[in-house]
Amino acid sequence: MAKAKVGILISGRGSNMAALVYAAKLADCPYEVVLVAANDPEAPGLALARAEGISTFGLGHKGMKRADFDAVIDAELRKAGAEYVALAGYMRLLSPEFVNKWEGRMLNIHPSLLPKYKGLDTHQRALDAGDLVAGCSVHVVTAELDDGPVLDRIEVAVLPGDTAESLAARILMAEHQLYSRTLAHFVTADQRPEALLDHIRELALKLPESYEKPSYGAQAFGIEGGKMFAYFRRNHHGDGITAMLVRTSGGEEQAMLIESDPDLYHRPTYLGPAGWVGIRLDRQPVDWGHIEQWLGKSWRRAAPKRLTKLLDAADEF
Ligand code: GRF
Repeated sequence: MAKAKVGILISGRGSNMAALVYAAKLADCPYEVVLVAANDPEAPGLALARAEGISTFGLGHKGMKRADFDAVIDAELRKAGAEYVALAGYMRLLSPEFVNKWEGRMLNIHPSLLPKYKGLDTHQRALDAGDLVAGCSVHVVTAELDDGPVLDRIEVAVLPGDTAESLAARILMAEHQLYSRTLAHFVTADQRPEALLDHIRELALKLPESYEKPSYGAQAFGIEGGKMFAYFRRNHHGDGITAMLVRTSGGEEQAMLIESDPDLYHRPTYLGPAGWVGIRLDRQPVDWGHIEQWLGKSWRRAAPKRLTKLLDAADEF
């Protein structure tokens, strides 16, 4: 499976960046780091990334307008092929343009249990408040500082006699655990069966007079007054497959499809003999345009005459 491409932005030592880079070396890590960029060419983290064979980019931001500087970083990220951005100790406010461009694809790590203690001095603020538990959070980046949906957090107990430094050091260990896991989870979110079903549902229910109902451990999509036109199956009878089932014109087309691409198509149990074909959704990347076409074709085959007549008439105009 292709790995998601991540660009990391840092400002200093880059220990969180290093944790992300090392985790990416594990064979089953779903992301790879394609660029480490800093707003300071001397940031120690850049040397570490270079030594690991990762492309780096460092540029001092002094004298540049925020939006102009961010546009340079954005261009570097795109040149490197980044699909996601991980902020790791990036001590610079981002322009709204940059945040918009990476909306929903940019994460940040913050050393507090958000929504508590946004901004700086988080450790001292937790101590001053007498908190018994502090910690760190990873969140999706939105226009507001240290705001945006929190994806996950790790709690860290405050010890008697803790100083801001001693607490920060322990929270940093937790940060290193948290970031790569949350990022890995995030970049694979749209491949999970729940997300795949959501997507199928959205496409299927757009078709005229369609409805959804559970059916023998699958989700079925049918047409009012007509027949079923799609099923979403997940690990059906333990087969380990996530697939959408649609109607073909019959056994011949079904056999042809399977022969043409046996990794994508299969003859599903029960419905196979009736001419249905299974299209796998657990082969990345899913071609959603193709899935939508199939839903349309299958819908037509399942629709009652009164609906297809209307559509045929509409087609003639
Ligand atoms: C970390 O504490 C992180 O949570 C915060 O800045 C610090 C960066 O440390 N946003 P490092 O550069 O990753 O070592």
